[in-house]
Amino acid sequence: MTRTGPMPAEGMATDMSTPVQSEIDAEIGALHEAAAKAVAAGAPAEVHPRRDFAPYRSSVLRHPKNPLVALGDPDAVELSGPVFGVTDITELDSDLTRQHPGEPLGERITVTGRVLDRAGRPVRGQLVEIWQANASGRYAHQRDQHPAPLDPNFTGVGRCLTGDDGAYQFTTVKPGAYPWRNHLNAWRPAHIHFSLFGTAFGQRLITQMYFPGDPLFPYDPIFNSVTDERARQRLIAAYGHDLSRPEWSLGYRWDIVLDGPAATWTEAPEEDL
Ligand SMILES: [Fe+2]
Repeated sequence: MTRTGPMPAEGMATDMSTPVQSEIDAEIGALHEAAAKAVAAGAPAEVHPRRDFAPYRSSVLRHPKNPLVALGDPDAVELSGPVFGVTDITELDSDLTRQHPGEPLGERITVTGRVLDRAGRPVRGQLVEIWQANASGRYAHQRDQHPAPLDPNFTGVGRCLTGDDGAYQFTTVKPGAYPWRNHLNAWRPAHIHFSLFGTAFGQRLITQMYFPGDPLFPYDPIFNSVTDERARQRLIAAYGHDLSRPEWSLGYRWDIVLDGPAATWTEAPEEDL
């Protein structure tokens, strides 16, 4: 990336069309307040991110505007979707620090948790995929032009299958925060992207895990597109000292509780407790 001049001071827009943080903050505040009033009036809490959340600027034009379409024949999607098999996944796939000749830079961490359905039952054999920025906040992707260093020893992609107890585990490095141009001085809190495939490609769920105590939470429109405070807190992993390994890594625990029949698609509806 080539800079043609000094970076603008914080709070100064580069042009009239670039919102500043205070505008984004005001929009988030108003939307959260309206959501809280709706809940107080009896509406159910919104535990998923809103598809149309104006402070998240790029979502305004690209979010689905029509109701979701139920798949009449879920099996038909399998004919054109990716194919994953148990034999394709090796132990190395879940250790993002061992995918290159050298070790990546950064704070080594282990992230573990369980994938559970709404009733608290473990979801076994679930394909869990993650992708993340490196310790400097840079993705190994050509579209990421953030002027932070790439790490030749870190790709930032991993996957594993959950065990009989629904548990998954990854070894990686803590990702850095990165700027994303949603508005002036927009920075994403450190996060790891998670994908779960369910029992069929059409059930894929994608979410993000955050780290406790991140000072960027109040400023991030993506994190705040979940208007329910308790639901936002469920996106944040817990530091687990029991998971930290002496002289090796820090541990974080993050359980993923799948909501409703998407978690257990093969079950009869009456079993959806
Ligand atoms: Fe990201």
